[in-house]
Amino acid sequence: MLDVENLSITFHAGTVNEKKALDNVSLHLDDGDFITIIGSNGAGKSTLLNCISGTYENDEGYIVLDGKEIQFMKEHKRAKMIGRLFQDPLKGSAPDMTIEENLGLAYRRGNSKNNLYERFLKIGLTKDEKEFMKEKISQLDLGLEERLSTKVGLLSGGQRQALTLMMSTINTPTLLLLDEHTAALDPKTAKKVMEITDHIVQDNKITTIMITHNIQQALAYGNRMVVMSEGKILMEFNKEEKEKLSVEEVMKIYHNKSTQDLSDKMILD
Ligand SMILES: Nc1ncnc2c1ncn2[C@@H]1O[C@H](COP(=O)(O)OP(=O)(O)O)[C@@H](O)[C@H]1O
Ligand SMILES: [Mg+2]
Repeated sequence: MLDVENLSITFHAGTVNEKKALDNVSLHLDDGDFITIIGSNGAGKSTLLNCISGTYENDEGYIVLDGKEIQFMKEHKRAKMIGRLFQDPLKGSAPDMTIEENLGLAYRRGNSKNNLYERFLKIGLTKDEKEFMKEKISQLDLGLEERLSTKVGLLSGGQRQALTLMMSTINTPTLLLLDEHTAALDPKTAKKVMEITDHIVQDNKITTIMITHNIQQALAYGNRMVVMSEGKILMEFNKEEKEKLSVEEVMKIYHNKSTQDLSDKMILD
C-alpha cells in the first residue's frame, strides 16, 4: 500500500546550514496499518510526512502509494489520496464558513465530477447531502450536528480539530497523515480527539501514520510503532512487541540507542 524506499533529503545543501533531515529512510505499510512515530525534536518526523504528501521533494529514494510512484506528483494531486492533519487546529478549515459548508466543500472536493464543486459554490448542498453531513458530524458525538450553521471560527480547538478530521476522511483517503494533531489541545480534549481519531480510522480501515510526542499515545494506538532519530528510523515494533512495551522501556531503549539527548521534547503526559 505504501512503500517508502531509501528516502533522503538535505536542506541547504552546500552551505553551513546543511542538514540531512532524512537519511535513507525505508518504511512499508500494509493496507489498514496504523503506525505511530515518535522521536525527539528535529528527528525528521514531519519531514517524512512532508515528503510523502509532496510538500517537500525528496532528493533520493522513491515513494509508492497504492502501486503508483508518487514522488514526482504535485502536492495538490497527492492531496486527493492523502488526508492530513497538523498540530494547529486553525489549519484545515475556513473560519468564516459554517460547519456544514466546510464539510460540504471537503466532500465535494473529493467528488468533483460534473462541476459539482462549482455548483456547490453557487447553490450549496442538496437535501440528501445535508442529511449526510448531519449524520457524519453526529458521529463525532460533540453535539455539532445541532450547530451546522455555526461559523467554524467560533468552535473550540478540539471541536475544530475533530471537524478537520472529519473533513479529511469524509471521502476515505488512501492514506491519513497525522502530525501531532492533538498536541495543541488540553489533555482532556486531546484524549477525546484521539478517541474520535481511532474510531474513524478503525471504522473505515484507513491506513494511517501518526506522529506524536506522547509515548503513551504511541503505545496505546495503532498496530505498529516506529522510533526516529537524526533522520533515520532507529527502531520498529510490531503489534505484539508494542503491546508488551511500557513507557519506561521505550525511554530506556531510546536513551541507550540514541546519540541525541533524550526526552527533552518527549513528554510523559
Ligand atoms: N523547510 C526546511 N528548511 C530547512 N530545514 C528544515 C526544513 N524542514 C525541516 N528542517 C530541518 O530538518 C530537521 C528535521 O525537522 P522535522 O522533520 O521538522 O523534525 P521533527 O518533526 O521530528 O521534530 C530539523 O533539523 C529541521 O530544522
Ligand atoms: Mg514535527
